[in-house]
Amino acid sequence: MAKIKTKWVCQNCGYETPKYIGKCPDCGSWGTLIEETDIKPSLPQSVVIDESGVCLINEIEITESIRIPSGFEEFDRVLGGGLVQGSLILLAGDPGIGKSTLILQTAGNICSNNKKLLYVCAEESGSQVKLRAKRLNVNSDNLYVYSQTNLEAVINQTETLKPDILVIDSVQSMYTSNITSSSGSVSQIRECTNMLMSIAKNKNITVIIIGHVTKDGNIAGPKVLEHMVDTVIYFEGDRYKSQRLLRSIKNRFGSTNEIGVFNMEESGLVEVTNPSELFMKERTENATPGSVIIATNEGTRALLVEVQALVGATSYPSPRRVATGIEFNRLLQIIAVLEKRIGINLSKHDVYVNVIGGIEIDEPAADLGIALAIATCYRDVVVDGDCVIIGEVSLSGEIRNVNNLEKRIYEAQKLGFKKAIVPKFNKKQNDKFDIEIIQVPRLTDAIIKCVSKK
Ligand SMILES: Nc1ncnc2c1ncn2[C@@H]1O[C@H](COP(=O)(O)OP(=O)(O)OP(=O)(O)O)[C@@H](O)[C@H]1O
Ligand SMILES: [Mg+2]
Ligand SMILES: [Zn+2]
Repeated sequence: MAKIKTKWVCQNCGYETPKYIGKCPDCGSWGTLIEETDIKPSLPQSVVIDESGVCLINEIEITESIRIPSGFEEFDRVLGGGLVQGSLILLAGDPGIGKSTLILQTAGNICSNNKKLLYVCAEESGSQVKLRAKRLNVNSDNLYVYSQTNLEAVINQTETLKPDILVIDSVQSMYTSNITSSSGSVSQIRECTNMLMSIAKNKNITVIIIGHVTKDGNIAGPKVLEHMVDTVIYFEGDRYKSQRLLRSIKNRFGSTNEIGVFNMEESGLVEVTNPSELFMKERTENATPGSVIIATNEGTRALLVEVQALVGATSYPSPRRVATGIEFNRLLQIIAVLEKRIGINLSKHDVYVNVIGGIEIDEPAADLGIALAIATCYRDVVVDGDCVIIGEVSLSGEIRNVNNLEKRIYEAQKLGFKKAIVPKFNKKQNDKFDIEIIQVPRLTDAIIKCVSKK
């Protein structure tokens, strides 16, 4: 009998090697390589081959993609306007965050619109899904549930049932008989995803696959699938809080900077149409040193969020810098500007900066807010509680303009703020708003204009 060829595959990143090694040279994790049978997987189906051959770009006719509304405005926004027919969507998230809940509610919405949906629950029994559906008040004559882990069986069912949408919950529990590796291994989930991609493209079925994010590398993470699918969406949130964020990481049919906000309640996920209000909810009435409200821009809307800083004498040989929700290097840069341009010496102080509500801010418009949070905490003064801070800080200590400024100010006005600190070089916009607009050319001006003794 011919010897079965095997290979070692990193379960974290998908790196392959013919021999065992302890540390993955690609992602650096230890002990993540497991032995898998080396069988040529089927060709990737993510590329749609156009039979017509070479043609001029000007002569290609555009076929409008059809979108199916998810029934959630927040979800549709993240998808770029609904689920594109015939696309493959990966929904990834930590265990227990609410992936099945989101998809089951979406399924209910879609089915009530006369679409047929097949929900494959590879991890739960039909009655478990029914129990959840009952709690979420989901019922429909178009919603089919199939408790199955074998992908070939699922494909057969898809052929008889001909659903508009196919949901796989989760891809890590599925296996195909094409290859012998155990379910959950990189080879299995890659091959399953390939097969699902070909169903999506050839049968024009929208396929949603759910994937668990794992940190320990025992089960292959959705990371290895990201390049294969059309859209990657992460479902995030603090498990001890009810707030959930939907964020797209990759989207072949829309932009990736939109977020969707939900609240997890007994009856399921409820859309939060005004997230700023939610993020402001936990704020205390009185202004505290180190706390400021900034206006950030997420896709098509502005969001008000609270940034907190804590500055204290260090007991470490080199002071600590901890950034949660903002980029670490951005924090270092702002600290450097504060030291050089304002004369705040932080070389013997630990600095912690935290964005409340689990939001990740990656735009420079938050700079001024972060700088003021640190400065006010250091000097034990406060930024007025009715004031919103907007602006990028340059290395020279000047405040730079930001995009979508008006939208940010409107959001602050809507939520009852009385003042907005904004960059200097904006056109006179004061008349347009009911709130006081304070333009500041430099970081020093900002500190004078909005800071008061507590
Ligand atoms: N009776 C309930 N009332 C309120 N919330 C509940 C209730 N039951 C479950 N939940 C919420 O739903 C979450 C689990 O949701 P769900 O099963 O959709 O998550 P998941 O991401 O699919 O998890 P898994 O990784 O197990 O597949 C729980 O963490 C909890 O927040
Ligand atoms: Mg689940
Ligand atoms: Zn690796």
